[in-house]
Amino acid sequence: MQVLGLGRAAIRSTQLHAIVQNSRARVEIMKTMTRLTAALAVMAIGTAAFAADPTPKEMQQAVDAAYAKYKGLQEGKNADYIPILTKTPSDLFGVVIVTRDGKMYSAGDVDYRFSIQSVSKPFTAALVMSQQGPKVLDDKIGVEPTGLPFNSRLALEIYKDKRSVNPLVNAGAIAAVSMVKATSETDRWNQVLQNISDFAGSPKPLEVLEEVYQSEYTTAFGNRAIANLLYNYDRLYSDPEEALRVYTRECSIGVNTKDLGMMGATLANLGVNPLTKKRVMPAEDVPELLAIMATAGFYDESGEWMYTAGLPAKTGVGGGIVAVVPGKFAIAAFSPRLNAAGNSVRSMHAIRDIAGQFGVGVFGANPE
Ligand code: DON
Repeated sequence: MQVLGLGRAAIRSTQLHAIVQNSRARVEIMKTMTRLTAALAVMAIGTAAFAADPTPKEMQQAVDAAYAKYKGLQEGKNADYIPILTKTPSDLFGVVIVTRDGKMYSAGDVDYRFSIQSVSKPFTAALVMSQQGPKVLDDKIGVEPTGLPFNSRLALEIYKDKRSVNPLVNAGAIAAVSMVKATSETDRWNQVLQNISDFAGSPKPLEVLEEVYQSEYTTAFGNRAIANLLYNYDRLYSDPEEALRVYTRECSIGVNTKDLGMMGATLANLGVNPLTKKRVMPAEDVPELLAIMATAGFYDESGEWMYTAGLPAKTGVGGGIVAVVPGKFAIAAFSPRLNAAGNSVRSMHAIRDIAGQFGVGVFGANPE
């Protein structure tokens, strides 16, 4: 029996070794990809695109067509690990384009408010960049895509030097919240909320969907483990429970598809909100932020997304996605049914179709 036991341990250790080796190779590939994408995103902004700008009529037709084409698609299912998200009506679907000068084209349920979830993450990363410069993200969080799910604990052990890995996975986003320069938890939260509201150009601060907050915070055992592990490894920069609360609150902010479109348009407009004209982040930090969105915005599906859509984007388990065409416009969509990676199925299809039709992928037109 003992021999058998030892044999099993040896097999497990070999398997673990293979996983870690594999992951290290992936890290090296992803590092190269991040640098390449950053360079290309800057080039895309500099050359202001490969395709002619679509006309207003073409934009409206594109959102109408994407809405009509995917409205009947039932694939995927609502997130259920945050219990209340199962109650969002699954058939809701909205599609929006917002240009960098604030013109909006929309179809479907674009006024329905849902929780922003992970779509909040790049915007809080932007706040940290605005306060402390882009290098601090690299130094204190990291900018590597993990190739692993958004809530991976394994990633913290594989990426030993950076631990929280990148600001778009849960670990990095909890770390980002903890890095906001604040005098108290209330101050930290108010800044996070104000910043996201500024990106959306909302005349008054956006509101938290309290039921979503309660549902997520009372079941946030995995994220609490991540916050505590990060703190243990000196990679969290505030009290862990405070960071968890503020992070969970930011994920529970209520937005509609138009808000997401406007937030993306602010990035397309190099950090100035098209409606309020307020500068929300430094223009020179936008390419770095878009590079992280390009390499990690879809978690373990980021490669597939860039391969087929070619746009920096961010998803959330509430069903929202925002994609940015640098220097031009944003495409946002909302639909609660998710695929296995936690990304909205209809939203992905709609955004990919529109990007393909207009030939606006940052690497060039990708019409299929
Ligand atoms: O922390 C969580 O698990 C959620 N508040 C956010 C996750 C999420 O949106 C992942 N995105 N697709």
